[in-house]
Amino acid sequence: MRKNIVAGNWKMNKTFQEAEELISELVTGLEKSRHTCEVVVCPPALYIEMASDYGHEEGVIKIGAQNVSEYEKGAYTGEISAAMLKSMDVDYCIVGHSERRKYFGETNKQLALKIERLLENAIHPIYCCGELLEEREAGKYFEVVEKQIEEALFHFSKEEFGNIVIAYEPVWAIGTGKTATAEQAQEMHAFIRRIIRNKYDEETAENTTILYGGSCNAKNAEELFANPDVDGGLIGGASLIAEDFIKIVNSF
Ligand code: 13P
Repeated sequence: MRKNIVAGNWKMNKTFQEAEELISELVTGLEKSRHTCEVVVCPPALYIEMASDYGHEEGVIKIGAQNVSEYEKGAYTGEISAAMLKSMDVDYCIVGHSERRKYFGETNKQLALKIERLLENAIHPIYCCGELLEEREAGKYFEVVEKQIEEALFHFSKEEFGNIVIAYEPVWAIGTGKTATAEQAQEMHAFIRRIIRNKYDEETAENTTILYGGSCNAKNAEELFANPDVDGGLIGGASLIAEDFIKIVNSF
């Protein structure tokens, strides 16, 4: 079911003590806030247990992971399985972030397997897609995003697809301070909804949550979220500051 979500992707930031401080500030702040959206925090995997303890205690934060193995279990040193995440009360998991595609060579095929593992374990994948600057400049952005979605998602059944959240994150906007304009975000989100409608049906398209990510902050969130096809945000830098993240959560 389509819902508004604000998710914080902490990436590889914060020591344990700093992470604990941030979570506790978030929980205190969110308890007092009148937000209407679902709030998800995706800390580094090591801190999931701590964040989950804080978040679940008060029921104000859902926990997301930043990555998952495409394998079920076994001899895969250093990997974390979807079943392990589920056993730590993880509800969401980011898949296919552009940083993982770029630095760790993740492909659409591999991402499809990760999503399969997550769905088997009742965890909502937050599937990231988005074009590079040169692809935007060459006018190929619709094509690029369509391919990312088609190759990783469109073999799933309508029922399975209903559990997937999509995050449009233009790579040129990530960590650059250069946000997509509200028009650019709306245009792409409407396009994504259109291809989902063409592949599945109207109901599935309408029920899909599509988040925007890329230099979304306390100042521009309201304008971005006001668009009919923008259902929230996947927030990097601004999710590391409790006050800013709470402002974004309250931007609907
Ligand atoms: P920034 O908000 O720091 O641009 O990062 C966005 C992002 O990559 C979220 O996944």
